[in-house]
Amino acid sequence: MQQTAFEQILVQAARKRAALPSIASGDTNTYRLIDGEGDGVPGLFIDVFAGHWLVQTRDAPFPDPLRMRLPSGCRAVWWKELTNEDSQRDAPKWITGSTESRITAVENRISYSIDFAAGYSQGIFLDQRDNRAWLHQACHAGHRVLNLFAYTCAFSVVAGCAGAVTASVDLSRNYLDWGKRNFALNPSTSDAEPEHQFFAWDTFDFLKMAMRKGERYHFIVCDPPTFSRNKSGKVFRVEKDYHSLIARCAEVAEPGGIILCSTNHRALPRHKFEDLVRSGVAEAGLCIHSLRFNSMPGDFTGEAYLKSIRVEIDRKPRI
Ligand SMILES: C[S@@+](CC[C@H](N)C(=O)[O-])C[C@H]1O[C@@H](n2cnc3c(N)ncnc32)[C@H](O)[C@@H]1O
Repeated sequence: MQQTAFEQILVQAARKRAALPSIASGDTNTYRLIDGEGDGVPGLFIDVFAGHWLVQTRDAPFPDPLRMRLPSGCRAVWWKELTNEDSQRDAPKWITGSTESRITAVENRISYSIDFAAGYSQGIFLDQRDNRAWLHQACHAGHRVLNLFAYTCAFSVVAGCAGAVTASVDLSRNYLDWGKRNFALNPSTSDAEPEHQFFAWDTFDFLKMAMRKGERYHFIVCDPPTFSRNKSGKVFRVEKDYHSLIARCAEVAEPGGIILCSTNHRALPRHKFEDLVRSGVAEAGLCIHSLRFNSMPGDFTGEAYLKSIRVEIDRKPRI
């Protein structure tokens, strides 16, 4: 039987993803299969979570062939329309296949709980895969890792799997509870305190407390939303506040510690983001030993919107 144009796009996209090492080896079963323009289909994004597909559309129709027949290897199709900020917070709609909404997906042999009934996101930001892989290989037993804006604690789980102790901070207790479930899914980690701590706090309040108490971290993950408002109404905006956030992070970094600074703010150019990071470290009165950009995972073939910088703080404070 002849393939339709849509089937050809899927086959080509799947071939590209199958060539990525962690997918080829079977260590990862969650990835972006179609990334809009990057795969020749503007406005269409398909994420795969252990065979369950999340189709997202922006100013584009739902691909009807997916209603008719499940493609090979696909167990379910869910759909989310990305029309505006509010619609992004909605849970996806079930379209066809398995109706199971809670499943487990595996990335680099680490398991994560995925929930299609949840709004905002399904439990893991796939664009952070290479950053998580970097943290996993960089940290080990004896390291303290601070995961700010932790969401479901994916970064903490990889650090825990590498033997580090972790502190996860997020305004949402529900997300931290989800994070505890992620820890429980991975036998080499435990969510037992004090190895892994969870703080349903505002990040800035946590950093103030950590500074006061002399808590210091070898690795700090700082990936805030572009805009947020805490429980007392205080607003955070990446373009205005990121530098002071990095300053507070630098103050609680061990000498020689590394901050993974990340933002998905599309309108912020790379060089401006780097300036914010550099000025934050300077504001803390510290010097940078090294600064490197991490690139996005290979399955994200479209716009390179995620900017990530690893900044290593100098061992000596600035005079
Ligand atoms: C973009 S997600 C972070 C994703 C996470 N870094 C990851 O890769 O899994 C943003 C998270 O920040 C949390 N958040 C927003 N404002 C916050 C604040 N002021 N303090 C702590 N957490 C906050 C939200 O609850 C949400 O879970």
